[in-house]
Amino acid sequence: MIEESEKGWLLDNGLVAYALRVGEDGVLEHLHFGGSLGSLAGFSAWPRQAYRSLQIDDRGKPFRHLGTLAQELPFFGRGDFRSPAIAAPGLDELVFESARKIEGGLDLGDLPSARFEGAETLQIRTVSRHMGLEVVLSLTLWPGHPVLARTVTVRNISDRPHLLDRASSLSIDLPQADRHIVHLTGSWAREMHLQRHRIETGRFSFGSCRGTSSAQHPPFIALTDTDTTELHGEVLGGALVYSGNHETVVEKDEFGAVRLQMGLPGGMRWPLAPGEAFIAPQALLLHTDRGLGGMSHGWHDFVRERLLPERREPYRPVYLNTWESAYFEVDEDKVEKLARAAKKLGCEMLVLDDGWFKGRRDDHTSLGDWQADPKRFSRGMGELARRVTAEGLKFGLWFEPEMVSRESDLYREHPDWIIGADRDRPGEGRNQLTLDLSRPEVEAHIESVVASMLREADISYVKWDMNRFVSDLDDAKRAHLYMLALYRIVRKLRKAFPGVVFENCASGGNRFDFGMLCLFDQTWTSDLCDPEGRLDIQSGASHFFPLSALASYIGPSPNHQNGRISSFEARRDVAFFCGSRGFSLSAEELEAHASSVKETAGLYTSTQSLVTKGRFDRLRTGAEIIWQLTSPSGDEVVILYARKRSEPNPPFASVRLRNLEKGSAYRMEGSGELWRAESLMVAGLPMPHTDHRANPPLMKALPTGDMATALLRLRRV
Ligand code: GLA
Repeated sequence: MIEESEKGWLLDNGLVAYALRVGEDGVLEHLHFGGSLGSLAGFSAWPRQAYRSLQIDDRGKPFRHLGTLAQELPFFGRGDFRSPAIAAPGLDELVFESARKIEGGLDLGDLPSARFEGAETLQIRTVSRHMGLEVVLSLTLWPGHPVLARTVTVRNISDRPHLLDRASSLSIDLPQADRHIVHLTGSWAREMHLQRHRIETGRFSFGSCRGTSSAQHPPFIALTDTDTTELHGEVLGGALVYSGNHETVVEKDEFGAVRLQMGLPGGMRWPLAPGEAFIAPQALLLHTDRGLGGMSHGWHDFVRERLLPERREPYRPVYLNTWESAYFEVDEDKVEKLARAAKKLGCEMLVLDDGWFKGRRDDHTSLGDWQADPKRFSRGMGELARRVTAEGLKFGLWFEPEMVSRESDLYREHPDWIIGADRDRPGEGRNQLTLDLSRPEVEAHIESVVASMLREADISYVKWDMNRFVSDLDDAKRAHLYMLALYRIVRKLRKAFPGVVFENCASGGNRFDFGMLCLFDQTWTSDLCDPEGRLDIQSGASHFFPLSALASYIGPSPNHQNGRISSFEARRDVAFFCGSRGFSLSAEELEAHASSVKETAGLYTSTQSLVTKGRFDRLRTGAEIIWQLTSPSGDEVVILYARKRSEPNPPFASVRLRNLEKGSAYRMEGSGELWRAESLMVAGLPMPHTDHRANPPLMKALPTGDMATALLRLRRV
């Protein structure tokens, strides 16, 4: 996969290729990222050199301008005035020293990374001789994926201290073209909204300084041709395998060339003592010419095979969660009652959400005191778990281990453990303070309290929550050390309790990124479970995440976040398209919908492998949303048809299905109609229609009213 020739290095696995070379004066030049080239023979290197007024001639060489050169490790100060990839006061050169190929990948220490088995890595060492700084660029390629990993390691090889201001994990220079940026934006309860706009001349950047990768601007990007669609056209995808502060920069220069960078935010003033190294988080790059749909398939396969923790399937019990039915009003009788009801209705797990620990009556108190509240759980968590499991259910528990309430034993004992302890009145979010995980004693404490609860009670699932932004921390190093500590804690807990499923949550999707995916089996996608809102959220998420990474439940109606009333069926159908599914309904609601709940639990249980392993396609996006989920064998196909707004006299809709095996025939569940794959893919499948008058309906009917959905199931015969 990695080939070296007099033209440079080519990393090419037949799906994607990356090429670079050592230019004059040892500068690392970027040659290509995109489709497979096969070989660098006959490859004409971009860019060419030309006379350009106002540019700086590098080292007295006329027409050699770093300011227009496509580089791998650009820095400021010698003629490149674009966004630097490496910044350190005094940096004046980065000159090629050596290169080596390694099997597998670079050890990134505590940082999460894609699994390296079968991969090959090219490491290129460059140095600044005057300053005594070494920058090693690592590029990793796997067979069978259109994905490449890139990172840099910066080491102080001098005998005096240095400061590192910036070390972009990813920095590539793309040739001139008219392109779009696609990225995700959002906020609490409306995460993962896709934005697309033209790249204009100038610098566009987004990122997070909130201490989490954030719902506002998670670290994902796609650069597309302006005419790229869902099915066609070039896409270059980028993602950072990191969960803290980050920054993405897209800079289009005056010649239309585009520099794309992803990494920790610049200006970090990271102290590097002699001999010390900084390892930047891993960035992933993807290329496809099959549109945004092709990009999603590339990410989905890669995430499932290389990022998500490996587990034996199935491990996604259909669950009942206490949050939206009971909030903080939980006690052992209520939980046992819910467990019995849940079991009767076909659920497989009971999840006790917030409210179970010492003194917790609302969100003002008790975070940090992770023992069962003696008043409401007098028999203790071990006994409660025993009772729940005796009903034949698994037991899950909510934690928010990175946080502390002022009103807590932990805070009274260790007021100095919080971030901002040295400040007058550190900011509170949801009435809570953040523990400073960069302190070793805090890290050890968090690991030990969670571990001791996992030892005390038979717990199969941990919902690991984090419900505020991190303020009062302007030290980039401590913010990064916080993340490394978090990764270490979760890694150790996973190792000690390999049977436990860990769910990542940060008020929903406030820390939903590829870093967390390496350590958590799934993510609580959003606190919004209203089906209409979730359509957009899950649709946006599906661009980067496979369904197996998403969690959902059927919550109450009217929805507690936006007040919208929705049918049980609409909630069921949208929640279907997540790897982990369940309910958060009170005993009364469960009873009122008993037969639907039972049927749904059966549906969810029987389709666990389909949602976690199937191929997901977005067939239509807009007022009507149509999704297709196809099992890996192609035997089973589920179509979601959702129409957000009711319309009088609506048009007949039909949709072409994708990726079925020609020659196969499919039978529609319910109606028994038989379809040939060719007909479904070429002519299309008619969608259900709202027939306000006809009785009996002439076509498969869609419910009347807003937010109408239908699940159509086809089976190969
Ligand atoms: C966050 C989570 C919710 C719930 C509450 C409990 O908001 O996203 O699912 O667990 O905390 O306080």
